[in-house]
Amino acid sequence: MPVPYEKQILIIDDSPESIELVSCILKRSDFTIRIAKNANSALKLIQFQIPHIILLDVNMPEMNGFDFCRLLKNNVQYKKIPIIFLTASDEEESIRKAFALGAQDYVTKPFKPAELIARVNTHLKLTQRTEELENAYKNLDSFCYSVAHDLKSPLLSIRRLIDFLLQDYDEIFTADGKELAAKIQEKTTEVTEIIDHLLELSHAGSKKIHISKIDTRQYFTDMYKNLCVLEPSRKVCFQVENLPCIYADPVLFKLLCQNILSNALKYTRKKDCAVIEINCRLTENYFVFSIKDNGIGFDMRYVNRLFHVFERLHSEREFEGSGVGLAICQRILQRQGGKAWLTGAPGKGASFFFSLPRREMPMMEKDC
Ligand SMILES: Nc1ncnc2c1ncn2[C@@H]1O[C@H](COP(=O)(O)OP(=O)(O)O)[C@@H](O)[C@H]1O
Ligand SMILES: [Mg+2]
Repeated sequence: MPVPYEKQILIIDDSPESIELVSCILKRSDFTIRIAKNANSALKLIQFQIPHIILLDVNMPEMNGFDFCRLLKNNVQYKKIPIIFLTASDEEESIRKAFALGAQDYVTKPFKPAELIARVNTHLKLTQRTEELENAYKNLDSFCYSVAHDLKSPLLSIRRLIDFLLQDYDEIFTADGKELAAKIQEKTTEVTEIIDHLLELSHAGSKKIHISKIDTRQYFTDMYKNLCVLEPSRKVCFQVENLPCIYADPVLFKLLCQNILSNALKYTRKKDCAVIEINCRLTENYFVFSIKDNGIGFDMRYVNRLFHVFERLHSEREFEGSGVGLAICQRILQRQGGKAWLTGAPGKGASFFFSLPRREMPMMEKDC
């Protein structure tokens, strides 16, 4: 099916022959073509109107295609524009680098018209499908938010009503009756906590992202101190290496630290001396953090389930919880271009890993 003609393609290339050739091929398919001969003119055009797809040359004066790609992929406003590299040859290193920077595809010169058109169409369709899926997801999310939100107030009323019941009819209730009422209170508190976690999950997915500089060592240390206050008698050896300052959303990063550390503290509770170690290593494009504990661990056969809502490997009797924390972490990271994973073994502790892109400059304060 042809893609509607209003799709805008931006070709960025310093070679007039190459521009001429690509434009000729694409004009036949009714795309609207815009042309930039270098990265700076391209940026001006993008700021004026965001194209649906970019065809990008590798070698250009001033800023080359790789640096330009990195710049766009680090910017929330522009990172979703699909980029197809125009490479002089199928040189493996260039292609590897282009994909590592987040490019969607490449075509090699001399261009085959049918291939170029097919690749452009494929990526336009993929972007459209992704947008549709994201919208459907947002709708589902706001539906879940409303349901959770609406359930919370009747639950709070039930708790208050039971309080009144116990106060006003104290003499009438037998010990069994009081115990039953206390059990109902306990269960409503549990459900309220689950609802609070679901609201946090929804918040992690819909909150506007504001990027600023974060001293990650400080965030982890402060959160650890806050959580330790709740269990003052525990003996924990908390080791934080020299963690970096990064650019991320502070509110979401705090929620991330809270979920990771509360798991590490919870699942080491049975240890006489718990050890929690936090490290960070750098890869070409990412910070990779690890939070290692020496707690109860888990069976790796079930690891893929753990990031789903309500999935738990340990019973409520052994360790309290709602099974939403890891889903919150994954959502926080995905929204900022990172991801989370977990390793562990029964009785040998667990390590939570997460990656976040290395940003050299703050992204604009934009909704992601
Ligand atoms: N540090 C850890 N050690 C062992 N198991 C863990 C750890 N972190 C998470 N898990 C497992 O993953 C499950 C999901 O974690 P989470 O979503 O935070 O939910 P919750 O902590 O409320 O159970 C936990 O129930 C537990 O089985
Ligand atoms: Mg948890």
